[in-house]
Amino acid sequence: MSIRKIIIDTDPGQDDAVAILLALASPEDLDVLGVVAVAGNVPLSLTQRNARIVCELAGKTDVPVFAGCDKPLKHTLVTAEHVHGKTGLDGPQLDDPTMPLQDQHGVDFIIDTLRSQPSGTVTLCPLGPLTNIATAFQRAPDIIERVQEIVIMGGGFFEGGNITPAAEFNIYVDPEAADIVFRAGAPLVVMPLDVTHKALTTPAHVAAFRGMDTNVGHMVAAWTDFFERFDKEKYGSEGAPLHDPCVIAYLIQPDLFAGRHINVEIETQSDLTRGMTVADWWGVSGRAPNALFMRDVDADAFFGLLAERLSRLA
Ligand code: RIB
Ligand code: CA
Repeated sequence: MSIRKIIIDTDPGQDDAVAILLALASPEDLDVLGVVAVAGNVPLSLTQRNARIVCELAGKTDVPVFAGCDKPLKHTLVTAEHVHGKTGLDGPQLDDPTMPLQDQHGVDFIIDTLRSQPSGTVTLCPLGPLTNIATAFQRAPDIIERVQEIVIMGGGFFEGGNITPAAEFNIYVDPEAADIVFRAGAPLVVMPLDVTHKALTTPAHVAAFRGMDTNVGHMVAAWTDFFERFDKEKYGSEGAPLHDPCVIAYLIQPDLFAGRHINVEIETQSDLTRGMTVADWWGVSGRAPNALFMRDVDADAFFGLLAERLSRLA
């Protein structure tokens, strides 16, 4: 399979961090052109710091990190320190990064990269609110047809929501941005809670991370130990759902996942159901399909891939 060029748009977040590590540990599959931070789990000042920490942890300080948008298109920023801690990467003790933040705005990097790379050769991987992607599409509509694929973590249907009964966090934070992206017409793959809640860390998985006895292994184990308490308490689940790594695992091994090509629209008008992904799983609306909406994952194979790739990092 050819190496896929990707831009990771992210709000680290422990699960974002694992996704970035997975991507950076997979050079035979993925060429990470850049990492763009967005406000989400924690404010932009922290997500851009955290993105640089993770790139340094992977020993990939040549990957440029950019700061994107610091607030959603319309709503006031909602953050998730209750899940990720006040730094966004709570769990292990972390030093400040030394690698530089790029001067260019992250949205301009997305636009310039899509314009300069051959059309249809760059995949966008949003792991947080879709503010940067939507802003790029609004500023430069010409780039939309140049996108190879957009593979996002966001939404939920059978699982409902995780920040409100109706909405998943990434979509809830910036539903207007999500509406722009879901209507844009670029090939779209969605990893909703329906599938990410099946990618749960178990004590055995966390022990396997720790058992690598590498800095990365210990970091990932400490992050999952911290991150899982929210979901275990709320859902009574066995461990932490590794939401964002599902996006990267799909790019490496798409057959780990199964879903349907359906119509998905975003609720932007109602306070009660703000950010709901209205997924026409049963094909009753007559609306044209616009997204490959995933529902199942081979969890054992997913964790096998994750452990194999993370074990490559020191
Ligand atoms: O709802 C889960 C998503 O919101 C994940 O991407 C997590 O990192 C947060 O951004
Ligand atoms: Ca995220």
